[in-house]
Amino acid sequence: MTMPVDTLWSNVHLATLDMASGYGEIEDAAIAVSNGRIAWLGPRADLPRGLQAAVTHDGNGGWLTPGLIDCHTHLVWAGSRAQEFEQRLQGASYTDIAAQGGGILATVHATRAASEQALFAQSAQRLRTLLDEGVTSVEIKSGYGLDLASERRCLAVARRLGREHRVHVATTFLGAHAVPTEYAGRADTYIAMLATEMLPALHAEHLVDAVDGYCEPLAFTPAQLRRLFAAARALGLPVKLHAEQLSDSGGAALAAEVGALSADHLEYVNDAGLAAMAQAGTVAVLLPGAYYALRETRAPPVAAMRRLGIPMAVATDCNPGTSPCASPLLMLNMACTLFGLTPEEALAGVTRVAARALGLHADRGRLAVGLRADFALWDIDHPRELAYWIGGRSCSGRVVDGVAMDAI
Ligand code: NIG
Ligand code: FE
Repeated sequence: MTMPVDTLWSNVHLATLDMASGYGEIEDAAIAVSNGRIAWLGPRADLPRGLQAAVTHDGNGGWLTPGLIDCHTHLVWAGSRAQEFEQRLQGASYTDIAAQGGGILATVHATRAASEQALFAQSAQRLRTLLDEGVTSVEIKSGYGLDLASERRCLAVARRLGREHRVHVATTFLGAHAVPTEYAGRADTYIAMLATEMLPALHAEHLVDAVDGYCEPLAFTPAQLRRLFAAARALGLPVKLHAEQLSDSGGAALAAEVGALSADHLEYVNDAGLAAMAQAGTVAVLLPGAYYALRETRAPPVAAMRRLGIPMAVATDCNPGTSPCASPLLMLNMACTLFGLTPEEALAGVTRVAARALGLHADRGRLAVGLRADFALWDIDHPRELAYWIGGRSCSGRVVDGVAMDAI
């Protein structure tokens, strides 16, 4: 019986990530694609006799993994906060700087002033760095506009980044990132405006795939975010939350309560919050870049998460304030050295589990028949090398929806 397929990659080793743990290694393998989806995979020796590929690629003995998924970024912004880095090195805290009108609001100021073209150009440069390290899906949050026109511009830039590069972009509305100056002292009014005006308007323009909020005393309370999330759910949008990054503020429990896809950061999460996440199946998104840049000393409780079976994703948190970094591989290394993940947990964190943090796990994040053919190819001897090397290592090729992008 003949089995016609569009494309076959042969002479590769596969790390399928298609099980609860382990890399899912298949050495000397092949993988076939039809209509942008995986049609067959397995040891090359088991290739179905009748499989006929229109195009065949030689993987040169490299490793092929699911394309990386960066499930938490704030990729679209203008300006730089390098001077805050200097201030922090001289002893100022992130919270002090934010209270003085710097921090997120400084980037809001620069982003509101930037043209769409300037925003696009600056953000595209960061995106290309992610793609170079094997990213095939990226989540991009708004949150540096904080008024309707500026949030719209940021989300539109995120959509355009996806159209003009071979990468899947999932957008997240983060209007609840900070209280903008024009609403100073009126956080409740601002949240009500987000829930009843800004979010519905942007959703109607198909700019929003999910809704996020920043739960901290310097941003919003659980009660305020609960209101916003009710509006999100009424529109059928999934939610996520920046929780317990700088303090134990009840964010993890809120994320579990509202059925959030993920709670992100979690350095200060307490036992009850963890138990609630485990019960609800909330993904923990670990962001070692922000922990490192803020010189935090309290790491997220990885051992407890592991014990409770909380899935752990890893992401760059690419943003100008707390994680000026566009290297997912550096995050793999830091997740291991700073947080104690194993290299295989870290790789699962930017593939299988990251897909779950975006609600895309039925379709992406693993190598399995029927899933989207999004791959990264690496010139390495074993997938553990992806976490071992301290960032700055390019993939040798990417495949998006079955289409080879670069050197493969
Ligand atoms: O994920 N926590 C809030 N958002 C970012 C920081 C944003 C900023 O400082 O510009 C974060 O760390
Ligand atoms: Fe963030």
